[in-house]
Amino acid sequence: MTMKKVGTTVLALLLGSSAWAAAPKSTPALLEKGKTSYARNCLACHGETGDGNGPTGQYLNPKPRDFKSGQFKKGNKPEEIFNTISTGLPGSTMVAFAGLPEEERWALTYYVLSFQPAKGKGAKKDAPPPAKGKK
Ligand code: HEC
Repeated sequence: MTMKKVGTTVLALLLGSSAWAAAPKSTPALLEKGKTSYARNCLACHGETGDGNGPTGQYLNPKPRDFKSGQFKKGNKPEEIFNTISTGLPGSTMVAFAGLPEEERWALTYYVLSFQPAKGKGAKKDAPPPAKGKK
């Protein structure tokens, strides 16, 4: 019985330490961090309002993604956006930002998603399901 308990604890620790295997929660602090990083790393192309018409972005072909459209080649789930930021889009000026700390990439992920209009009509089917009540 005790061994089982120890085993469970170890497992929980192991899972817990495979940091960011799952998306962390979006918090105001994380979003704020994303905003700062976005201004530094992304704004020139994606623009202040996320429409892809940044000072550099407007001259690019293909154009940077319009984040407000909610249309993403590689998917709009947080994990998918995170992957895009980490690996980039081959064949475009969207390079990989793997050099940024993971937490910063998650912060950017949520900041990017924050440009989308509130869900409702036209919300994507593959968007994560709303949390099912409180525990
Ligand atoms: C040098 C210009 C440039 C910079 C800087 C840049 N991007 Fe992009 N980004 C692009 C372009 C161009 C595309 C569209 C590429 C395509 O359509 O294949 C794109 C696409 C994307 C997409 C959409 C991917 C999809 O699945 O459709 C995301 C998300 C994204 N960028 C996030 C970021 C973030 C976050 C940063 C800052 C860390 C950033 N980009 C910096 C040019 C840039």
